[in-house]
Amino acid sequence: MQVTITVNNRSITRDVEARTLLVDFIRGELALTGTHVGCDTSQCGACTVLVDGKSIKSCTMLAVEADGHEVSTIESLEKNGELHPMQAAFRECHGLQCGFCTPGMVMSTVDLLQNNANPSEPEIREWLEGNICRCTGYHNIVKAVQHCASGTKGA
Ligand code: FES
Ligand code: FES
Repeated sequence: MQVTITVNNRSITRDVEARTLLVDFIRGELALTGTHVGCDTSQCGACTVLVDGKSIKSCTMLAVEADGHEVSTIESLEKNGELHPMQAAFRECHGLQCGFCTPGMVMSTVDLLQNNANPSEPEIREWLEGNICRCTGYHNIVKAVQHCASGTKGA
């Protein structure tokens, strides 16, 4: 089946099998390997991307379902060599160790701040229930999101 998906502001038309997952399209077809696969069963959130601005787990969506939609991956966040404020906050607050979960954490929390510019700690933790980190204990991830939110207030 032919799909046309705008990925990171680029319109891409490809033939895909009806069963192709969006995450496999992103990684296998487009070689955008910043989007990770940690489980394939909708548990870990490592595959989180934005579809039409909303965070989704791209292992839960078929590529054909994304036809005509806009997908943003972690590769879209850096602009002119500058990290996105959320990426910078993760770096500053040591919100990662191995980094495997980080693209999903960042994409998910970018969406959080779009909806809630100043989330409380419980709100951040609740939002991140679908994103699993095996390394950090989450504390510095929460701090990174708070740090980013404090820097973007009023922006
Ligand atoms: S790979 Fe999609 S939720 Fe784990
Ligand atoms: S930093 Fe290793 S899984 Fe989160």
